[in-house]
Formats: sequence, C-alpha cells, structure tokens
Amino acid sequence: MKRIAILISGGGSNMVALVRSMTGDHPGRPVLVLSNDPEAGGLKKAAEMGIATAAIDHRPFRGDRAAFEAALLEPLLAAGPDIICLAGFMRILTPAFIARFEGRMLNIHPSLLPKYPGLHTHQRALDAGDTEAGCTTHEVTQDLDAGPILGQARVPILPGDTADTLAARVLVQEHILYPATLRRFAAGDRSPIFLP
Ligand code: GAR
Repeated sequence: MKRIAILISGGGSNMVALVRSMTGDHPGRPVLVLSNDPEAGGLKKAAEMGIATAAIDHRPFRGDRAAFEAALLEPLLAAGPDIICLAGFMRILTPAFIARFEGRMLNIHPSLLPKYPGLHTHQRALDAGDTEAGCTTHEVTQDLDAGPILGQARVPILPGDTADTLAARVLVQEHILYPATLRRFAAGDRSPIFLP
C-alpha cells in the first residue's frame, strides 16, 4: 500500500476527491493533508474524513522559502509518504525540495498544458479565444508546470463563459482526472490518461 500525502492551500475539493477514491483495491491510502495556510478550508474537510492534518503558515517565513520548506518537511517526513499530491498548493517549491521528491510528486493544473502554465489559466484561455480548456495532471519537475504529463481532460468553452464558469466546469473534470491519475500512478503505471 502506498502512503499518500496531499498538499493544499485552499478549499481542497481535489483533495476530497483523492481521499474518497482511496478505498477498496486502490493501491494508495491518505496519510496526511498538509497546508501552508492554517485557515485553508480543506484542513477541516480532511479532519472530518479522519485524515491527519498539519499546517505550516508560510507568512512568518517572509519569502525564506528554504526555511519554510524545512518546517514543512517535519510533518511531511514524519508521515513517511511514498507519493505526494499537490492539490491546489499555491506555493512555489525550491529545486532542493522538488529534487527530494522527484518521481513521486504529482500536481494538477487547470489548463491543457503546455498551454498556460502559472496563474489565471481560465482568463488566458478566454482571452486567446480558445474553444476548449481543461486540466492536466503531471509529475512535478524543476520546470514549473512542465513535468511529464500523466493525464488530461478537456472541456468545451461555451459562449458567455467567464473565468468563473469555466473554472467550475474544469473543476468537475479535475475531480475525475486526479483520482484516475493517482490510482494508475500508485500502481506503478506512468502512462497518461486522456479523458473523455
Ligand atoms: C484547482 O483548480 C487546481 O487545479 C488549481 O487550484 C484549484 C484548487 O482547488 N491549482 C493550481 O492553480 C496550481 N497552480 P481545490 O482546492 O478545490 O482543489
């Protein structure tokens, strides 16, 4: 059984989808939900599901990423994770942190990578006049939002869409894609999944 740690910064809806998926013959089990924001809504949801939680507030570290990550590593290493899932974790990680977990750290990003790495993905897709958007799961490497792709799901962009309506439509697919990706990855299969 693979031990799965999930890093969040916000509401944690992807985290909830991942936790709910890890039952039965799933090769993983959640061991920790960790946040950089003690107020992150996902922490309460994780605790209600019986998952261990921890929070390391990044703000007192004032941009000293190495010191923040040293603090983050304490609960993380104590949980002994085999795989780390970034699920709406909105802090940039240092090369040293990434190197430590390379090959066993996943992320979900709300665009069809390689399009629109970084922030404001939905507005950028709308501004570009794209006819479809989506989400991507990938391995985390030193290049931001550019590691090997593990899955993609596409959604149409509809007339009248705003960044918010598009984000909501993509999020529905994120909740399908990320659990499907983790299940496959935890079983040792890195071949990508393309939905629908
Ligand atoms: C998700 O849409 C995720 O793809 C995005 O943040 C949201 C988190 O929602 N991640 C990024 O933008 C990473 N750069 P959630 O907290 O409800 O899962």
